[in-house]
Order: sequence, then structure tokens, then C-alpha cells
Amino acid sequence: MSSLDSLFEAAKIVQAKAYAPYSRFKVGAAILTPSGKVFVGCNVENAAYPVGSCAEAGAISAMLAGGENRIAAIVVMGEGEHLVTPCGGCRQRIREFASPETPIHVAGPEGIRKSFTLDALLPFSFGPDNLTL
Ligand code: THU
Repeated sequence: MSSLDSLFEAAKIVQAKAYAPYSRFKVGAAILTPSGKVFVGCNVENAAYPVGSCAEAGAISAMLAGGENRIAAIVVMGEGEHLVTPCGGCRQRIREFASPETPIHVAGPEGIRKSFTLDALLPFSFGPDNLTL
């Protein structure tokens, strides 16, 4: 199984664990790190709606908790017929730990639907280097 196949499977398994009783829109995210490890996250909603968190945020948190801090590739798996590209906030979250060329694979249950680079989804982005005075 290729690393992209296993990333896809990991995103699918964690998507099923999402807590999304309000939107009923389950999302799973799986991050591959340069060392070959996989970290996953799902969206976690809340009765106080704005407090909910995205799948990508959960996967990034798991990556940091697991002692890694670079994203080599990420799969975001959503439901329905539309492309579930990461929201604006999550593009910025990914950007903190990725390179412009890092692939972001957008998937549905049947497979990868479209692949982007981070730079394509977040051009002219603000990152750690911008903070150097
Ligand atoms: N959601 C994610 O988890 N990631 C995204 O990039 C887009 C949106 C979640 C948030 C919310 O729980 C549900 O999808 C509907 O917006």
C-alpha cells in the first residue's frame, strides 16, 4: 500500500469518529510527517457552536503531541459531492508546519478527488519568517 493510500485510509477511519451532531458534516484529516508517521484528527463540534474545532486542527495537535512538527502531506476527507478543501483558518494552521509545495489531498469516501499544493490554496501567505523584523 502506498503512503498516500494509507493516509487516505487513516483519514477515512478517523472521519467516522467525528463528533458533528449539529452540522452532521463529518471531516477527517490525516497528516504524514517526513519520518513516515501518520497523525489523525476529526472535527469536534459543540453546543456552543463557535467553540467547535476542525479536523485539521485536531490532526495538527496530535502531530505536535506525538513529537513531530512538519507536514509532508495531508489528506482531508469530507462528505457530499463538493470538494472539502480546508477552511481558511486551517490553511493557515497547515501553513505553520508545511512548505509551499506540500500536497493537500482533498478526498471523498471513494478516493482522492483533487490535490493542491499549500501555495495554491494560500498564496502570498503570512508565516513565521514574516515576523522577523
Ligand atoms: N470542517 C472541518 O473539520 N475542516 C474544514 O476544513 C472545513 C470544515 C468542519 C467544521 C464543522 O464541524 C463542519 O466541518 C461543518 O463546517
